[in-house]
Amino acid sequence: MTFPDGPPASSAPMSQSLDSQKSAGVDDRITVRLGPRSYDIVLGRGIEDHFGGFVRQLVPQAATALIVADEHTQPIALRLLSHLQACDLQTGLAVVPPGEGSKSLAQLSTLYDALYELAADRRTPVIAVGGGVVGDLAGFAAATYNRGLPLIMVPTTLLAMVDSSVGGKTAINHSRGKNLIGAFHQPRGVWIDTAFLDTLPTREYRSGLAEVVKYGVIQDAQLFALLETEGNALQSPRAPRLPQVIARCCRIKARIVEQDELEETGLRAILNYGHTFAHAFEVVGAADQWLHGEAVAAGMMCAARLARRIGFLTEPDLLPRQERLLQAFQLPLAPLAHWNVDDLLAAMRRDKKALAGRLRFILPRQTGEVHLVSDVPEAEVRAVLTEATIV
Ligand code: GLY
Repeated sequence: MTFPDGPPASSAPMSQSLDSQKSAGVDDRITVRLGPRSYDIVLGRGIEDHFGGFVRQLVPQAATALIVADEHTQPIALRLLSHLQACDLQTGLAVVPPGEGSKSLAQLSTLYDALYELAADRRTPVIAVGGGVVGDLAGFAAATYNRGLPLIMVPTTLLAMVDSSVGGKTAINHSRGKNLIGAFHQPRGVWIDTAFLDTLPTREYRSGLAEVVKYGVIQDAQLFALLETEGNALQSPRAPRLPQVIARCCRIKARIVEQDELEETGLRAILNYGHTFAHAFEVVGAADQWLHGEAVAAGMMCAARLARRIGFLTEPDLLPRQERLLQAFQLPLAPLAHWNVDDLLAAMRRDKKALAGRLRFILPRQTGEVHLVSDVPEAEVRAVLTEATIV
């Protein structure tokens, strides 16, 4: 099947420098157009050697930089650090433990300490090298230290490449809810090297595929169809079509963020398809240690079942198609049976998207079209949480 390019790339603020990088392995660039906060997402494979030049163009006056990584991404961070030092940047490295637990006040405080030790000034970039946890934590440190430092995202997981590194959401968790303490702080640039995916654990990689499926359902029926035909190949991070798929997801996200940067009109909220359920699964089922994308997969299935139950879904095939795709990617299709439904409902009411405790969901009407739906009867949500479960 053909796979057209999606919305045309705009003239980039960094177009000259990127044109010279193209010959050096940068295969694609997507500009997020936000006026003075515009930035480029650059994408290539095996492009580490050009990282120093990329950072230098973003922060030409900086004398220092702080790289934030976790124990898994530390080897990548150390290589990138040597490229920065070769560009006359005195670079510190802060390493946090892997996992959601690091999105905490305690780990945030270690980053503030590292910035202080580095004598960071307003030009010092914070460079997040990792997945969603590192990006959210380092991003929040950048948003708040010295009233805001430049942020550069280097996502190393599929999930971070297609979603969390783009759009400026940064946050840490409250003990009773995900991402409750945060800020919007756009990065200066996003650097995607798909070679980083080669060493990503399979389960992590598959978890990222859930967010890719999300883009198909919320806005791009062609992408969804491509995932159906290329699903087997895409189970490998070396799939030839993968860079194109990542770029397509980033373009969709860029266009949505450009129109609703601060999630005020309801447009950006569509990126949260499946997430109201997913966040509740992550909070109530914390002990089961699902990855974010796994929770999103089960959450999208619940949202589609809910849409069917309340007569919102006009394309009945969407549900089995989404189910087949997520199953092919070996992702969960329902919540675990032992999660308490009252606890799940309570967690959903505290979700950031709930208004005055009323439940709101992003629900599909057909492939490529979803809407924010308020005041869904609680009985229907309860029914969905019990109609299909994993024992
Ligand atoms: N991950 C959803 C958003 O960035 O809005």
